[in-house]
Amino acid sequence: MNVSDLIREMLPETCSIGQKVLFFDEIDSTNRLAKELAGNNEPHGTVLIADRQTAGRGRLGKSFYSPDGGLYMSVILRPTEQISDMMALTACTAAAIHTALSEFDITTKIKWVNDLFLNDRKICGILCEGGFHPQSGGLDYLIIGIGLNLTRNADVPQELRSIITDIETETGLLIDRNSMAAAILKQLAFQLSNLSERSFLSTYTEHSYTLGKTVIVTHEGMEKTAEAIGFTQDLGLIVRFSDGTEAVITSGTARFPQDMP
Ligand code: BTN
Repeated sequence: MNVSDLIREMLPETCSIGQKVLFFDEIDSTNRLAKELAGNNEPHGTVLIADRQTAGRGRLGKSFYSPDGGLYMSVILRPTEQISDMMALTACTAAAIHTALSEFDITTKIKWVNDLFLNDRKICGILCEGGFHPQSGGLDYLIIGIGLNLTRNADVPQELRSIITDIETETGLLIDRNSMAAAILKQLAFQLSNLSERSFLSTYTEHSYTLGKTVIVTHEGMEKTAEAIGFTQDLGLIVRFSDGTEAVITSGTARFPQDMP
């Protein structure tokens, strides 16, 4: 059986995403192709999966290391009133992946906004991208890109070794990529159907890697340290300064002392 059939078999027939899976041994970037296909009328719910990527994309224009042994997956969505906010989409995806991993007894923490951590190292990144309709100018499609490190890799570049990890190294578990993809798609479809109720926020908050930690924020034109204490419904980070005052911070204006520059 091919990868698409294997994944479809593990999904309920009613699952709104993943009924069509396009599989590639090697691709530059599943997000890049997903955007191209979405711009050419590929329907809501189509999923792209690759064994490896030669030009995997990360957030902020960074590259995403994508050797064999990971799950590299992009999901094409057509926006609705519910599905339109990129921050909520990213955070709900993180919560869905957290829950899917817990089905395999893997307990991750979610770093605001979009990374999953296992034992203080990153095992998963999420990149949501959107595209606009050439005629109407309205939002035409959204792509959720997920990169999850499943197996140990001896060739991890030196500069990433203290930052990223994988499920095999941390838990000894060798997880079947297709089963993991199906588990994530199921959770994601569920979370997407409730997105406007923000039901994912309880998981997102309870398993946060960020809350309780010190962040460096740019507030009123100054860099200050503060404690991360909560999230707003729109995924702003609520922080408390040493004088007891609070502020809501957006993702571009906060960094963590332990982050790379
Ligand atoms: C990040 O951590 O900065 C986000 C990484 C997102 C990586 C995934 S892998 C599948 C999809 N295709 C890409 O090129 N990027 C995303």
